Amino acid sequence: MGSFTSSFCTLFSLTSILFLLSSISCEAQLSTIFYSKTCPNALATIRTSVRRAVSAERRMAASLIRLHFHDCFVQGCDASILLDETPSIQSEKTAFPNINSARGYNVIEDAKREVERICPGVVSCADILTLAARDASVAVGGPTWDVKLGRKDSTTANRAQANTDLPSPFADANTLISAFAVKGLNTRDMIALSGSHTLGQAQCFLFRSRIYSNATDIDPGFASTRRRQCPQTGGDTNLAPLDLVTPNSFDNNYFRNLVQRKGLLQSDQVLFTSASTNSIVLEYSRNPGAFAADFAAAMIKMGEIQPLLAPNGIVRRTCGAIN
Ligand code: HEM
Repeated sequence: MGSFTSSFCTLFSLTSILFLLSSISCEAQLSTIFYSKTCPNALATIRTSVRRAVSAERRMAASLIRLHFHDCFVQGCDASILLDETPSIQSEKTAFPNINSARGYNVIEDAKREVERICPGVVSCADILTLAARDASVAVGGPTWDVKLGRKDSTTANRAQANTDLPSPFADANTLISAFAVKGLNTRDMIALSGSHTLGQAQCFLFRSRIYSNATDIDPGFASTRRRQCPQTGGDTNLAPLDLVTPNSFDNNYFRNLVQRKGLLQSDQVLFTSASTNSIVLEYSRNPGAFAADFAAAMIKMGEIQPLLAPNGIVRRTCGAIN
């Protein structure tokens, strides 16, 4: 009897501890239906905003996808990139990879305003940015995917981390592999995500050294065409398409360009030159379906880097400032 009582008590206290633990760790989880009761029209509202912005300027699709990437690589996908400078916030907007370069802040702010009108204080800026990147892909003919929601917005930004963790266009393949690995993304993810450079533009000073290098990893005709709009001195901010064939639509031409040594950035071309990444570039250059599927899967992974979950974080009322 005594032994029965003591086993019962042990079992009882174990159960109580487990119950207590599970009730303490009530951190929310990402879910595709996160707003289905609290803001059922949020997704449609965001999609309309993004479609409108992309119709007004095709490049905006590229800019929104990049903005999401630059958010997620700095303390996770928490909309920290959207915070403006204040005496207590060192904005990421002024970090080297973002200043005079990252765009699309207004599109997110506009979408947020419209969502706030229908359900105030419910939908986070981090989720809006994640959805906008997916909607941007679809708007220019790219793949779609289900976005899990429930991210909260940060109350802090981290300019120093934006300067260290966002990869440089002069990086070699191993450096790129490690920069993504520390965020939980593998080599295949990194290459698929670099395929975003099927869209958008880059400034002359970021690819000048490559087009004047006379190196063997660049097509001479391509280099000479690019030099026309990117002189050796001056014209630093002149733009060139990252995908010279179809910069406004999502396809695998970026990878086909790399095979022809017509990558714009050094960090693009190294993916073909390096033995550790070459075979995946070749695969995507031959198989657009494989690229699109891997891109979608990698965007989901990227969108789930270190999500800030309730009870942490807030829902900002405007994306540029904490409430
Ligand atoms: C692999 C490392 C990467 C490097 C070194 C890199 C670097 C760059 C650079 C230097 C630019 C041009 C910026 C300018 O001229 O102002 C750019 C543009 C762009 N990047 Fe990347 N990037 C990388 C990965 C990614 C990833 C992972 C994504 C998205 C998932 C992405 C999406 C884009 C897009 C869409 C543009 C064009 C933006 C526009 O036209 O507004 N990049 N990138």
